[in-house]
Amino acid sequence: MKNTVATFAQAKAEGRKLAMLTAYDYSTAKLEDEAGIDGILIGDSLGNVVLGYEDTLSVTVEDMIHHSAAVARGAKNALIVCDMPFLSYEVSVPDAVRNAGRLLKEGRANCVKLEGGEEVCPQVAAMVAAGIPVMGHLGLTPQSINAFGGFKVQGKSEAAARKLISDAKALEAAGAFAIVLEAVPAKLAALVTKEVGVPTIGIGAGAGCDGQILVYQDMLGMFSDFCPKFVKRFANVGEAMRDGFASYINEVREGSFPSAEHTFKIDDEVLEKLY
Ligand code: KIV
Repeated sequence: MKNTVATFAQAKAEGRKLAMLTAYDYSTAKLEDEAGIDGILIGDSLGNVVLGYEDTLSVTVEDMIHHSAAVARGAKNALIVCDMPFLSYEVSVPDAVRNAGRLLKEGRANCVKLEGGEEVCPQVAAMVAAGIPVMGHLGLTPQSINAFGGFKVQGKSEAAARKLISDAKALEAAGAFAIVLEAVPAKLAALVTKEVGVPTIGIGAGAGCDGQILVYQDMLGMFSDFCPKFVKRFANVGEAMRDGFASYINEVREGSFPSAEHTFKIDDEVLEKLY
């Protein structure tokens, strides 16, 4: 069954946890979808884990469209959420609606995600009015890495915790259908989850959220540049890939690959005529 913003709302109402992962290509999206994932985010973490940038700031709307369309072709049932990259929504409301619309029209996403609280609510409301469902993102918002001065847990002081709660309520009032909470103390995330009517999706925000999301390369052990404390490794695919690559290189070098079973034949009669 296709997941939609309505099934996400229903999951919260029924107390059913939502499982989300990132994906950036057709094959991975297909595997996640076959495994039964509720939602797939084409995150702007694309910049780190696929394109090799040191942060997400250089990712463009074109990058997101390209990868979102590939994911959408691979996933039949998952809700497809596409990140709005840095500066695609902050400058003006019309810009934000136009760029979000492109992620749906050309990227075939079902909805968009953007970072920020009260300050982006006019954009959220305008997108929702245009028929574009929006997921919010609060806490450690990586597009503000230069303002934060590093990857730090957010919402630890009373003022910051109050601001997080009021931002979550403002996003809900503006029409956001769900909110990602990243790197937020577990008890604060649980409080936000209780205070808002829309599902919260945690990443480094504890088990009290309505759902969870991880970057798939992190949870499969495929990305070693840095590993946040909140990542659990569910498989060691990176090591399996390295072993597979090394075996291939060995067999090519020693001449044992390709063997007869991986080779095409030609009739000897035909071949003799060539000499
Ligand atoms: O870009 C991304 O992958 C994200 C998740 C970490 C939530 O925004």
